[in-house]
Amino acid sequence: MVILFLLLSSAYGSFNYTVSGFGSGATFAHQLHIAHSATIIGAGLVAPSPYYCAMGSKVRSETACRVNSYLINYESMITYTINSASSDYIDDITNIANDRVFILSGLYDNSVPQSTVSMTLQYYQYFIHNSYKINTVFNLFSGHGWVTYNSGGPCWATSPPFINNCGYDLAYNMLSFLLGNLTPKTIQNPSNLRSFDQSDYVDVWQAGLSTRGFIYLPQYCISTIECFVHVAFHGCGQNYDMVGDVFIKESGLNEWAETNDVIVIYPQTIATTQNPGGCWDIWGYTGTNYTYQNGLQIAAIHSMALKPPYVNWSN
Ligand SMILES: *[C@@H]1O[C@H](CO)[C@@H](O)[C@H](O)[C@H]1NC(C)=O
Repeated sequence: MVILFLLLSSAYGSFNYTVSGFGSGATFAHQLHIAHSATIIGAGLVAPSPYYCAMGSKVRSETACRVNSYLINYESMITYTINSASSDYIDDITNIANDRVFILSGLYDNSVPQSTVSMTLQYYQYFIHNSYKINTVFNLFSGHGWVTYNSGGPCWATSPPFINNCGYDLAYNMLSFLLGNLTPKTIQNPSNLRSFDQSDYVDVWQAGLSTRGFIYLPQYCISTIECFVHVAFHGCGQNYDMVGDVFIKESGLNEWAETNDVIVIYPQTIATTQNPGGCWDIWGYTGTNYTYQNGLQIAAIHSMALKPPYVNWSN
């Protein structure tokens, strides 16, 4: 009995996952990573702005954290992170140093330009000293969009549904950097893409989330504990209500997930009067704790990742 308990608790304690996202989804994936850096071991970010950039202000999130990067207060974000960790609102910052980060910023991205994304890079460099743990792609002629090998609109575009065909396999490059060597991809199996009820995890109304989230769940992952969990966050103007299943189906992630023991969770926001774009909470619309582990969205997504829907892992 004691041995069983020890086995189960160690299996639970060693559980890790990775995250990715685009735009506000990238900033949120990054925010979630900093809050849970002991559990999250990798982040793939397309057009992110840095942790606590908005400092609780929607106006700042739309100015300093987008086009006016000269207004970003780098030192105060570092200090805020260190203080949040010493107060135990987020994981200890030493965990960040062990993680891997992949950052992409398009040359034609005028929404979150390279000057802003560079601040996110600089933020990570403060905590991660091994340069091989950070990979940057700043040389694609892409607009503000999630980059794919062969789906979506023109690479240079910045327009809905924000999927840009750049002839670059972002999913492969990101996942292989975060997880290691990958088995070649295959076609996705439509029956492995399912919806689930996000209200099983959180009061979705309070958290600004839709009742419906999505998961790409390879059959063999349903009862096999070895599958990795990867959570992918859509951008503003890109949730299911606005663009349908475009991001969920065309991210390029599912094809790699199918052959590599990966489960991809695609949580979904809901548009509201205070958040008409259906952006992730990167300025505090769910409350002042939005960057902490007890922030409503962070807590909800973390519990989804630790206990994905449909999966009967014995722990
Ligand atoms: C915000 O976080 C602090 C520190 O954990 C906690 O004491 C407080 O109750 C939280 N506020 C809300 C509204 O959850």
